[in-house]
Amino acid sequence: MAQPQTNDANMETNDAIRHTRIPLARGSGALPAVGFGTLIPDPLLTRQAVKTALEIGFRHFDCAERYGNEQAVGDAMQEVINGGALKREDIFVTTKLWNTNHRPERVMAALDASCRRLQIDYVDCYIIHTPFAFRAGDDQDPRDEHGRVVYDSGVTLIETWQAMEDLMDGGRCKSIGLSDITLDRLKEIVAVSRIKPAAVQVEAHPYLPEWDLLDYCREQGIVVQAFAPLGHAMEPKIVDDPIIRSIAQRMSKTPAQVALSWAVQRGTALLTTSTSVGHIRENFDISALDEDAMREIRDNIKTNIRFNSVVGTGVPGFIPRSS
Ligand SMILES: NC(=O)c1ccc[n+]([C@@H]2O[C@H](COP(=O)([O-])OP(=O)(O)OC[C@H]3O[C@@H](n4cnc5c(N)ncnc54)[C@H](OP(=O)(O)O)[C@@H]3O)[C@@H](O)[C@H]2O)c1
Repeated sequence: MAQPQTNDANMETNDAIRHTRIPLARGSGALPAVGFGTLIPDPLLTRQAVKTALEIGFRHFDCAERYGNEQAVGDAMQEVINGGALKREDIFVTTKLWNTNHRPERVMAALDASCRRLQIDYVDCYIIHTPFAFRAGDDQDPRDEHGRVVYDSGVTLIETWQAMEDLMDGGRCKSIGLSDITLDRLKEIVAVSRIKPAAVQVEAHPYLPEWDLLDYCREQGIVVQAFAPLGHAMEPKIVDDPIIRSIAQRMSKTPAQVALSWAVQRGTALLTTSTSVGHIRENFDISALDEDAMREIRDNIKTNIRFNSVVGTGVPGFIPRSS
């Protein structure tokens, strides 16, 4: 079982896992394992949630041009930084290149626009949001007259990846990665890339543990960022799982804390999202599970569900079409 990596493994204590940092083997810096996702449709709620998360202790924020709220995330970060509580370099910011910007000549401009909205001059990790190129342009959801997505067959993922490598050369991002990618396609990129991915962001939780991908990434020194670590609160709810609940009861934790601790202890970073102050606090306030609990989750949970279909189409499963 992977042990959480920290700045100083000797300092590990029971509740230290919330401060776990995973060094990036490619690129620079270390990724705080407990991350806060910003897929929150309302900009005001985004700003409030990000500010609360910063105050509570989250230091890793996952953003995307497709979420349409980078400005609100940037406003919250600026508010906290200007208040003197934190410096820019205390915060790890990931953002993502959207499908309509895969053409190499659009990649730098997309990063510049994200930085402008986020009000920062570099991102810690820049990720290709999905391996699917959509028709290039300002319409983020291009459709034909039948409502079908218009893909762009004029650019390959490898060409887009090479443009990401060029960004690294220019110092505008400290690491680069991929998202919503299958193990086979990841291997293709690893095989041909000059700069290999530092991070891969995929749906992962006790109902979709992605062990094969995780094992491969571990061998390759690639950090796995688990999105929807609570299953996006969809049915069947991970927090209602009988095994998760019995561990929570035995260890005096909440079911959400059990699922999030499991994610960190098996060696992934996680991205959880909430607009509730109580949940944000609860989700940061995690502590280590015992080995029995880790084993029970791995061996005894048989439910297998993917909640987000984005991996098959490039169409975001958690974003309503009108937004
Ligand atoms: N790369 C991709 O394609 C991709 C796709 C999807 C998501 N993401 C990223 O991953 C992030 C997280 O995804 P997610 O929203 O699915 O995460 P999640 O943490 O699995 O689910 C969030 C949901 O769980 C609820 N929740 C949060 N804490 C809880 C707790 N302690 N107890 C009970 N319910 C709780 C939230 O409701 P409340 O607000 O009421 O707390 C919200 O409805 C996104 O924000 C985004 O940054 C990436």
